[in-house]
Amino acid sequence: MFDNGQRKIKILFLLISILVLVVFILFFSCASTLPRRFATPEQKKIAARAEKKALERGRKIYFNTELGSNGRSCHSCHPAGEMTNAQSYPRYKHILKTMATISITHNFAVVNESMGEPWILGSEDANAIALYVQFLANGKPLRMAGPNNIRDEWIARGKFLFKDTGLGTNGKSCESCHIQSGSKSKTDGHIAPALKGVTAVYPQYSFDHHRVITLEQRINSCITKKQNGTELLLNDEKIVALYCYLASISKNFLMSVARIDNTDLD
Ligand code: HEC
Ligand code: HEC
Repeated sequence: MFDNGQRKIKILFLLISILVLVVFILFFSCASTLPRRFATPEQKKIAARAEKKALERGRKIYFNTELGSNGRSCHSCHPAGEMTNAQSYPRYKHILKTMATISITHNFAVVNESMGEPWILGSEDANAIALYVQFLANGKPLRMAGPNNIRDEWIARGKFLFKDTGLGTNGKSCESCHIQSGSKSKTDGHIAPALKGVTAVYPQYSFDHHRVITLEQRINSCITKKQNGTELLLNDEKIVALYCYLASISKNFLMSVARIDNTDLD
């Protein structure tokens, strides 16, 4: 039997253990949502390794002549990324009669140019090929192409949605956290990063998803997790419009996805 003193010590020990555990869990769950630029060197390595793997997966898809039924790979028609122009997206596609992100365009390409099956948007393959084609455009300045009036209309729509509390249920808009139209960061219990230039650095490894995600998925995460909203389809016009707005504030930033250097991989 324990005497009173021993029991108190035991209870105290138990309480301290629980406290330590809670602090640990809180620390890691916060750390896991931090954007890349706040990552520790160890997390940067995890991200770099995952991006390298996804890039390799994307390269294999790009060179695969068995994607569809006509024996053509993306590389057959676009050697070294010729004519893929990822830096000019989102872009109005006359043939689709809508504004399209690079991922939406790839689905059109695989079906109509390689006679293959479309990818599920957000899947590992879809994101790998998006990462690879964006990678081929690295170093080029971002500039959305297409008919000016349509492009400007979509940017205005995205800008409106950025300030709209209707995407969620907690009364917040993107602007509540990503203040000054996304150009300034703010500490609001969280660190909401400035979003200028963000379209140049996605697809990117996400510590939340534990894999490479597209910007469409990142926007969806904020809608569901930060605004308590309903998850949208990745080709939903609202997501594409928000993407257009973010691309407009990222104009002239140089494409720079999967900037893996060897120090990240050690
Ligand atoms: C049979 C040849 C062929 C194959 C195979 C092919 N493409 Fe294309 N692709 C084209 C042509 C031609 C265009 C230009 C069409 C146009 O003017 O919009 C194009 C356009 C594109 C564009 C849009 C470029 C822009 O300026 O907006 C992207 C992105 C693209 N292809 C990616 C791919 C990917 C990824 C694959 C592999 C899944 C692929 N293509 C396979 C011929 C091909
Ligand atoms: C309640 C605050 C909040 C709201 C509302 C919010 N975000 Fe975020 N957002 C954040 C935080 C904090 C991060 C940093 C990563 C994290 O903690 O998840 C972030 C990260 C991002 C990123 C990734 C930035 C990077 O550098 O990788 C994008 C893109 C983004 N948000 C877009 C949006 C869009 C678009 C909306 C509106 C649909 C929105 N956010 C709404 C807080 C918010």
